[in-house]
Amino acid sequence: MRREHPSPAPVLSPASRPAGRAGADDATAVAHPNIALVKYWGKRDERLVLPVTSSLSMTLDILPTTTRVRLVAGAGRDEATLNGVSATGETHRRITAFLQLVRERAGDGRRAVVDSTNTVPTGAGLASSASGFAALAVAAAAAYGLDPGTTALSRLARRGSGSASRSLFGGFAVWHAGHDTATGTVTGTGTGTAEEAEAEEAADLGSYAEPVPAAAGMDPALVVAVVDAGPKTVSSREAMRRTVSTSPLYLPWADSSTRDLADMRTALRAGDLDAVGEIAERNALGMHATMLAARPAVRYLSPATVTVLDTVLGLRREGIGAYATMDAGPNVKILCRRTDAPRVAQALRAGAVRGSVLVAGPGPGARLLGGER
Ligand code: DP6
Repeated sequence: MRREHPSPAPVLSPASRPAGRAGADDATAVAHPNIALVKYWGKRDERLVLPVTSSLSMTLDILPTTTRVRLVAGAGRDEATLNGVSATGETHRRITAFLQLVRERAGDGRRAVVDSTNTVPTGAGLASSASGFAALAVAAAAAYGLDPGTTALSRLARRGSGSASRSLFGGFAVWHAGHDTATGTVTGTGTGTAEEAEAEEAADLGSYAEPVPAAAGMDPALVVAVVDAGPKTVSSREAMRRTVSTSPLYLPWADSSTRDLADMRTALRAGDLDAVGEIAERNALGMHATMLAARPAVRYLSPATVTVLDTVLGLRREGIGAYATMDAGPNVKILCRRTDAPRVAQALRAGAVRGSVLVAGPGPGARLLGGER
């Protein structure tokens, strides 16, 4: 049942630093998706990708993204392919903007060729931007000769896509929202005063991910029910923006999410999988409620999603600890004990899920592939 991926990455200890050649001009990195158990939904600063609330996720051991970055002297623009197809439009813009940050830090203006291979369907709410920007951060930093350490790489990945900050780490990771300083606003244009620049730097420094301790022996699995692998109709970026600015339920959810995070840390430390699952499910349903109340509403959940939620309730009535979470798409990820995963997957296949059902465990942090080529 476990789907094999072509080159399984070894599990690194969460605190380990991606190792490899610095200043290589050519570097390849691999990163895995993560699924938030306490969600990130809403930015307080779009340009710096600073979230309203802190979030917590589990990195998966399936569906990795592998990204190669090669620097090209004399090229006038960055080139990028995703699964062999040239990136254009907004995707190309986001990659170039991200590379520009790396270039500024490295003091190296060379353009790059980026080749990225995803085993996860892109843009379907299956965290492809998390693994994608985490792999790009690690590979680009190495190619441009930066070796800032994992925390700084997490901040850098955040600038590409917020959830990518968490994929730097294996197992469970928390992404700290950080705080704005009293000295100025971070919502400026970036062209402002020295005071604004200082405030921005402080805010940037405060928002990064790090590993979260969990009791040994919890042995969690996430069963991924792909009910629709097509791209989402509204990007999570746009949906978040709309939710924050128009949903009357947003602030109450953000408040309760802060409490969910504290409860989640306690449940993980205690190794209480049922508590972890209950918190994750209520947090995700609350996040979707905020979107449903946005104007106009954003609805990612489909009839098949709701049928899967019924299956999950049915499993719980049978005494199986199974808990659902959904992101910016109709697909459902079900947290359960690894020993229960075959039963959960079987129930899903017997019910609503026509697409694939994948079983994931906790996966490794992002890393450079060193010297294979
Ligand atoms: C629902 O990280 O994709 O998956 O920062 O705008 O790129 P941007 O958003 P992204 O949003 C992920 C939202 C989520 C919840 C989560 O992963 O925490």
